[in-house]
Amino acid sequence: MRLAVLSDIHGNADALAAVLADLKGQAPDAVVNLGDLYAGPLDVARTCDLLAGARIDLTVRGNHDRMLALGPRKPWDAAALPHLTQATLTALAALPATAVLGDVFLCHGTPQDDATFWLEQRSGRGLVRAPLARIEALAQGLAQRVLLCGHSHVARTVRLGDGRLVVNPGSVGCPGYQVPGTDPYAVCSGSNHAVYAVLDHGPAGWTVAHRQVPYDTAPAVALARARGFDDWAQVLATGWLGET
Ligand SMILES: [Fe+2]
Repeated sequence: MRLAVLSDIHGNADALAAVLADLKGQAPDAVVNLGDLYAGPLDVARTCDLLAGARIDLTVRGNHDRMLALGPRKPWDAAALPHLTQATLTALAALPATAVLGDVFLCHGTPQDDATFWLEQRSGRGLVRAPLARIEALAQGLAQRVLLCGHSHVARTVRLGDGRLVVNPGSVGCPGYQVPGTDPYAVCSGSNHAVYAVLDHGPAGWTVAHRQVPYDTAPAVALARARGFDDWAQVLATGWLGET
């Protein structure tokens, strides 16, 4: 069983195209998508077209999919909204918050909440890995051996005490972000690759490959800058944000 896991595409059509091309060489048995499909200042309409033509077996709804469809909308959602049809918004609203595929559980944030990090927590002006006890508490009651989440955009695999795995594939299209407010923080992957994961089930257990796919980010950088999202432009160009 080979499973490809995509998450947090965020309207980055060029990154998605690179991942879809890379996927052909991986020949997965199934492809799943953990949400946050469109929110952001990039080529949302083309992302929609690419997803319509791609083989995605199961998609769960991200917090930005929910806010785009149902509100309240934040700046990333507002940037994407003019490029989406009502039919797409209706489809986003209808996506499930969680799903199960065989021995694999899917959610965007945590099983309970699409806007909470499962594997990370705040520390200073960034995120660090959450303590095992907290990660395990959020996994209580789930029977599946592989638990998938996105949302933080941080690619990471964590083993629970009982051997289950929680895997965040990272973000296809948004390698970092800044969260403003009275206690701001920023997250960046440190590379501008399109990121996803390929999981293989074999006799010894699950192998997890976090794949970092290069692509030409220049068009997305130009689009982000033209639409007034300089932080997006910086992180798409370099993988880095400020001093993070
Ligand atoms: Fe996201």
